[in-house]
Amino acid sequence: MGEPNARSEARPSPEPPLRRWRGVLEEYRSFLPVSEATPTVSLQEGATPLLPARRLSERVGAEVWLKIEGANPTGSFKDRGMTVAISKAAEAGTEIVVCASTGNTSASAAAYAAQAGMRCVVLIPEGHIALGKLAQALVHGATVVQIQGNFDTALAIVRDLPGRAPVTIVNSINPDRIAGQMTGAFEIVDVLGDAPEIHCLPVGNAGNITAYWRGYCEYKAAGLATRLPRMFGFQAAGAAPIVEGRRVEEPETIATAIRIGNPASWYGATAASSESGGRIEAVTDEEILEAYLWLAREESVYCEAASAASVAGLLKFGVPGGSSVVCVLTGNGMKDPDLAVGQVSVPASVPAETKSVLDAIGA
Ligand code: F0G
Repeated sequence: MGEPNARSEARPSPEPPLRRWRGVLEEYRSFLPVSEATPTVSLQEGATPLLPARRLSERVGAEVWLKIEGANPTGSFKDRGMTVAISKAAEAGTEIVVCASTGNTSASAAAYAAQAGMRCVVLIPEGHIALGKLAQALVHGATVVQIQGNFDTALAIVRDLPGRAPVTIVNSINPDRIAGQMTGAFEIVDVLGDAPEIHCLPVGNAGNITAYWRGYCEYKAAGLATRLPRMFGFQAAGAAPIVEGRRVEEPETIATAIRIGNPASWYGATAASSESGGRIEAVTDEEILEAYLWLAREESVYCEAASAASVAGLLKFGVPGGSSVVCVLTGNGMKDPDLAVGQVSVPASVPAETKSVLDAIGA
């Protein structure tokens, strides 16, 4: 008998190395408020990296993962909720969507509205939005209204619009946004096999902490996780209404994404913290910037300043030794080039010759 003929052997069909990810709405359909009648408006958001953070783990004495939400199609976690909100709006026949935003929601809404063929109107606080986000909303074709006020005032105006104009609000006061954002928690459990012991994230309007907590609870109720994490939310010290227990009329922080004095999901955040045995704390701008640069240099992750608040909080308040911890890095550092170049010194130019380059690098 010769060697078996390999070509005639029945070979097990191998798993393709990459399966086509269909976006969070299709992947987690049974957990979302959608039906057969809901069209899918998606940019294949989700499936973002959950990066083991070796040096951060050593520094805090725990096992830390970073959920890289800046890897979503428009560069922030907002896409998870926006795919659901815009799909539901399309189902309802909406022609115009509107939001108030510190930048990322507007960029995401503009992109998904373009996909759905809807008009998008965004209200942003003049002078306090990162350049990359403003550029995104405009390039995607949104109507951008800069208001002479902060995010909280913009959101109050947006809440006032539906009675006066045929618009659908796609801020996280729209429950479809929160539903979609739960998928971040689902992905973490799907990758780790269970919920982490501690979940850290920045808090601004407080939709995301509300959504993550609900996501973990729903997964546990469905038997897909055995435990729930303690939720650690971090606000910027100059914009920390939940920590201080009162509205902040003039919020101030370099982390413009979370420059919010009256969060819409305030109750959701305090519920997530108290029900989970967690905490909501403040981190200063200096602590945020230190974490922002440290993440870029030690973990190679270029995130937004607001995103770095989650790690700033972890570094400041610590966790019990050996805990499993996930920090959500909510947005991409490329959104805010002004902040980035303000933190480093941009070198002067040198003559275009080898000797000058060698001098410049001290070689
Ligand atoms: N991180 C980033 C990068 C954000 O853009 C936001 C919120 C947050 C964290 C806080 O999340 O509001 O759910 O507590 N950005 C909103 C916006 C307000 O308009 O883009 P939250």
